Amino acid sequence: MSFLNSIKKGIILSGGTASRLFPITLGSSKQLLNVYDKPMIYYPLSTLMLAGIRDILLITTPQHKELFENILGDGTQFGIKINYKIQPKPEGLAQAFILGEEFISNEPVALILGDNLYHGKELYQKIDQLNNNADGAIVFGYPVKNPEKYGVPEIATNGQVKSIEEKPLKPKSKYAITGLYFYDNTVLEKAKQLKPSKRGELEITDLNNMYIKEGNLYLQLMSRGMAWFDTGSFDSLFNASSYIKTIQE
Ligand code: G1P
Repeated sequence: MSFLNSIKKGIILSGGTASRLFPITLGSSKQLLNVYDKPMIYYPLSTLMLAGIRDILLITTPQHKELFENILGDGTQFGIKINYKIQPKPEGLAQAFILGEEFISNEPVALILGDNLYHGKELYQKIDQLNNNADGAIVFGYPVKNPEKYGVPEIATNGQVKSIEEKPLKPKSKYAITGLYFYDNTVLEKAKQLKPSKRGELEITDLNNMYIKEGNLYLQLMSRGMAWFDTGSFDSLFNASSYIKTIQE
């Protein structure tokens, strides 16, 4: 069984204030805004389901928990199980593992960001063929024009990732590390070792660098045949909506 197939649990992180989308996010959650004709959260949810994950923990803010429950309920309507957990303050993506400790228990886990939208067949294709002893981490890279806004990998000539830098001024590749991550159970211990960064957050990039140091991080590069949107700005939200409209039509 491949590492991917062994992962049965997934966390969707839908926290934050989304101040870049004020005023429309003053009264709602960013991840419930519409991407054309569906709430944004449907997309990360279906990305986890495509990986065979049916047991989901949705982490959100105290203000928005009820809104998500109104739309997704306990997941029965989708044939899945959804539990909810509150992140009181936006203290970083890696905090998801600390908040989700009980849910994760002694199993491997996936994390997807509630504002990341993936479309295309190739996402899991190559990974399905990987049989990497069911441990380590899998992350995804997507070529972008503005890597300085993301986590950016430095890639050696043999394809190995040397390191990942968070929002570097001088990016060492054109790839963004996207918001979908698969981890073995050591993620729990690793997350507890993290210290807040300069922006006061437990950084997912620091966590990924721990896996790199152990020689245990696999980077799957996506080609332009895949579409990936981080829908956290007005332009990317608009682009994602128009992409979905075109594909559906
Ligand atoms: C976060 C991560 C970054 C990643 C991005 C993907 O950035 O820190 O490494 O590339 O999500 O959406 P943030 O949304 O916190 O700026």
